[in-house]
Amino acid sequence: MKSHIQIFDTTLRDGEQTPGVSFSFDERLKIAKQLEKWGVDVIEAGFPASSSGSFKSVQAISKALTTTAVCGLARCKQSDIDAVYEATKDAAHPRVHVFIATSPIHLKYKLKMSQEEVLESITKHVSYAKQLFDVVQFSPEDASRTEIAFLIKCVQTAVDASASIINIPDTVGYSYPTEYGLIFKSLLEHVKSEHKVIYSAHCHDDLGMAVANSLAAIENGAERIEGTVNGIGERAGNTALEELALALYVRRDHYGIETRLNLAETKNTSDIISRYAGIRVPKNKAIVGQNAFSHESGIHQDGVLKNPETYEIMTLKLVSISKNELPLGKLSGKHAFSEKLKSLGYDIKAEDQVALFKQFKAIADKKKDVSDRDIHALIQGSEHEQNSIYHLETLQLQFVSHGLQSAVVVIKNKDGNTYQDSSIGTGSIVAIYNAVDRIFKKESELVDYRIDSVTEGTDAQAEIHVELKIEGQPVNGMGIDHDILQASCKAYVEAHAKYVSEFIEKEGTRV
Ligand code: KIV
Ligand code: ZN
Repeated sequence: MKSHIQIFDTTLRDGEQTPGVSFSFDERLKIAKQLEKWGVDVIEAGFPASSSGSFKSVQAISKALTTTAVCGLARCKQSDIDAVYEATKDAAHPRVHVFIATSPIHLKYKLKMSQEEVLESITKHVSYAKQLFDVVQFSPEDASRTEIAFLIKCVQTAVDASASIINIPDTVGYSYPTEYGLIFKSLLEHVKSEHKVIYSAHCHDDLGMAVANSLAAIENGAERIEGTVNGIGERAGNTALEELALALYVRRDHYGIETRLNLAETKNTSDIISRYAGIRVPKNKAIVGQNAFSHESGIHQDGVLKNPETYEIMTLKLVSISKNELPLGKLSGKHAFSEKLKSLGYDIKAEDQVALFKQFKAIADKKKDVSDRDIHALIQGSEHEQNSIYHLETLQLQFVSHGLQSAVVVIKNKDGNTYQDSSIGTGSIVAIYNAVDRIFKKESELVDYRIDSVTEGTDAQAEIHVELKIEGQPVNGMGIDHDILQASCKAYVEAHAKYVSEFIEKEGTRV
């Protein structure tokens, strides 16, 4: 009898495959710690064989976590499994996740392998992984488009080779709940094992059914769900874990089983992922969207005032720690600022708070109320600046209503050296970006430019996200400032700085 549904979080692996998302080393570590605090059972921290960056992050996360298991992804390749072993060997609970595609289309066009060869590869690599790990997870990629008879053979082969966790990916988000549930039912019925096997669901949201499919898997015997925070991931993303967890909690009358997540940390976890991924949670998103708990219509408001349960199936309190939401202002002192940092979950040394307090005062001079979102943005902006090897020192612009705009940009590196250049452009942003390109002597292509305001109001800070391709490599950057042009410049400088540190200084390549 299962006691709870296990949560396998793949935000740092499948989630990071979201177009335009690339977490820094520090961000990955912070995310992993927050996921542990949230209470996930396993974190898939990366794909160690794919890049030295992923290897090092998995290694650091393995050393940092104490209760949550740390897993690394591996293809059916001995060197991939070795890389996971090396990266996770210091983890309290190391895990490996071995996969190979099993559907006819993947075998024919991608792997160019016969079914017999795939079965041989499963036996060879799952057995090899079992020599290095106590717990081996196996996934037949594109399982939902694999003929059921062959899928059963693949899973039986993996189980015979000692896999104890079988994950069933709906890789392209093609399945629907009754069909996906039936796969679990068939596997549970036909696969024989002398050891305990846990079945796990891994769904993608291409048809908007990832959470529904995962719930159908649970109804048919799955004991573990894989997914990501806010549902980020490749294409339309993965199962949104916060939605799944709350569905199990709110409808425990039906499912009769819950996760071990600390639900009060849900909103916090979602906020952190949203900030680091640079992906705003849509206002109407279930559980974590800004509107998820607000009532607009008069009839609804009247009902909620009379009895909240008229229109509320859950409360904000269930998913977020109640904090002191009082905004700070111009007159707030160091003590109030420090208390606010603590209440927002930041553990920042007193000496590091000095510079932050100065920045807070600068914001408070321009803005009447400094909200929690402003404080998060302030910390995030300062973390970005500290982690970046270059930052914007000054920006000077000349604007004319009709004609070319001009920009002078000065940037500083970690050693205190400054670099400057100027350029013109048809608009201010073009002029700024041309000047930065000249400083770095790199041509780049702006793939995406997004502007958000941190809060409401005309005095709000601007948050800019850019995605560039520099010499074919995708890199992103983020900048926050009261001035849109300055924030745009910060974001662009950060993207260039990332390119230098990740692809030039370390001579690394991404896989
Ligand atoms: O979606 C998928 O098939 C995957 C596998 C690597 C498990 O992410
Ligand atoms: Zn996936």
